Amino acid sequence: MIENDLDNNDALGHIRSQFSLPEGIIYLDGNSLGPLPSKAKARATEVVEKQWGDDLITSWNKHNWINLPSIVGDKIGAIVGAEKGQIVSCDSISVNVFKALSAALKLSPSRKVIATTRDNFPTDIYMVQGLIDLLGDDYTLRYLDERDIEGQLSDDIAVLMLTQVNFRSGFKLDMASITDSAHDKGILTLWDLAHSAGAFPVELDACNVDFAVGCTYKYLNGGPGAPAFIYVATKHQSTYKQPLSGWMGHNAPFAFSPDYASPHTVRQNLCGTPGIISMSILDAALSVFDGLDLDKVARKSVALQQYFISCMKQENIFNAFDFASPDVEQRGSQLAFRHEHAYVICQAWIACGVIADFRAPDILRIGFAPLYLRFADIRVAVEKLASIMNEKTYLNEVFQQKLHVT
Ligand SMILES: Cc1ncc(COP(=O)(O)O)c(C=O)c1O
Repeated sequence: MIENDLDNNDALGHIRSQFSLPEGIIYLDGNSLGPLPSKAKARATEVVEKQWGDDLITSWNKHNWINLPSIVGDKIGAIVGAEKGQIVSCDSISVNVFKALSAALKLSPSRKVIATTRDNFPTDIYMVQGLIDLLGDDYTLRYLDERDIEGQLSDDIAVLMLTQVNFRSGFKLDMASITDSAHDKGILTLWDLAHSAGAFPVELDACNVDFAVGCTYKYLNGGPGAPAFIYVATKHQSTYKQPLSGWMGHNAPFAFSPDYASPHTVRQNLCGTPGIISMSILDAALSVFDGLDLDKVARKSVALQQYFISCMKQENIFNAFDFASPDVEQRGSQLAFRHEHAYVICQAWIACGVIADFRAPDILRIGFAPLYLRFADIRVAVEKLASIMNEKTYLNEVFQQKLHVT
């Protein structure tokens, strides 16, 4: 069978064994929450029982907790094309957006426009709205059409804030070209890598990006609510000033001076005490990426997506949905299918052991995480979807109730 040949020739096939995956579940939602890497599980026990339990507060030095945000940041840097010293792990994307945006506006005081796309992930937009509320009416939020960002750039824009891969459709923006065009107009760039980091090669330094943020609970498998990260390009670090100037981002936190002094490094983004337990778990989870070729990851993602589509066509269910993702060269590691019953179809699929997710108003979203997904999983997942569609089992009463998290 073709899926068995594909799995036997899979250059990443051996990595699946590094995850602790539940029996009988096919997981197509690693773009929302990555599964548990075995090393992360072992580290969770170690950090709780040994480091916290036995070594108590001495662990800040003994186990180097104090430098963990930078250690983890540099590991993420290796995955997203950033030289060391430009990323720290901290807070959430939302908080990091606020910091980077505030700092960017300060670097560009004569410009008052923050530009983004209307279909950006809502929290990014909400953070802009909150910041504008704080700063006053001089500032405005401008929406650009994601299909022609470069054609809409103008020299009143201070910051261009974009998510590289659209969370609904998977539409992927050209980071290099857009960043170049923005710089030609004197615009600073802030990229959200939520659906990029760990899914395909990202080249922050090579693209000359100014600032970036990302989460670690999706393709980086850091666990629910794992700390996010923030990138400040070296060239901005001496002038970058973000307003959440907490003690952990001070240049000498243990001097306990009453006056804030910036370290003029990316560490100024640390505000309060980092969540060491979840950051340690993340640190261990990232070891899955040691020596990994992200080109291979991206290639396998495309192959999985294409196999998914071809199985849907074979099962005659492709046309039961409106395909809502762009062509392969313009998309990230996910596929989106519109259907008026997308929510209940997703619930019925989950009940058969295939986990995907639903994004309002009508999208069945399927994530392709190449580190643990097999082609045989795709075949079985589509067969189960075909039976749900053909027998309309999604109309069953049990699937109709909307859960809190979709
Ligand atoms: C593009 C994007 N940005 C931000 C977030 C969430 O941000 P936070 O880490 O603050 O919850 C998500 C969540 O899925 C996302 O897809």
